[in-house]
Amino acid sequence: MNIYLKKLIKEKFIKPLKVLDLGAEDFLDVDHLRQLNWICEGVDINNGVDLEKYFLSSNYPFDLVFSNYVIHKIKNREQFAKIIFDNLKKDGWFFIHTFDKTDENSQSVLTEGYLYEILSNQGFRNIKTKVFSFYDNQENHKRWHKILEATGQK
Ligand SMILES: C[S@@+](CC[C@H](N)C(=O)[O-])C[C@H]1O[C@@H](n2cnc3c(N)ncnc32)[C@H](O)[C@@H]1O
Repeated sequence: MNIYLKKLIKEKFIKPLKVLDLGAEDFLDVDHLRQLNWICEGVDINNGVDLEKYFLSSNYPFDLVFSNYVIHKIKNREQFAKIIFDNLKKDGWFFIHTFDKTDENSQSVLTEGYLYEILSNQGFRNIKTKVFSFYDNQENHKRWHKILEATGQK
């Protein structure tokens, strides 16, 4: 599971609640969180949810909405921010990981400033962004990335 997401959960939540993963792919994070007693939903284009279109889960609102390595693939990023916002409970937290523009191994055009702007325009508060280097040690990956992280609250 994404260790930075795990850290946010440890800091912000005292017990397992309800979580939504946008772009869940193989549901690894979802499965891990389910084992920790979170009530989980994961969506992906592979299970019929196209996040280029507006999406409000029938299970909303969630205490935590996260999305790892998806937003750089999405064209309508303002709407993506709205999807996160609308699926969250008031005071709920979001967590985004994506690749920064300076990442030589991805084609991302996203910068910290741009991501901050669309999230604050959406109405999120306590937004924090950072860029850091991370070595992806997974089989068939084995490369450095520049990760862009954003967290914040509705
Ligand atoms: C690099 S994978 C990341 C998967 C997972 N979140 C993780 O951290 O390992 C990107 C995922 O985004 C999904 N995706 C890409 N475009 C999408 C779209 N328009 N709507 C929904 N999911 C999309 C892909 O199907 C894929 O599962």
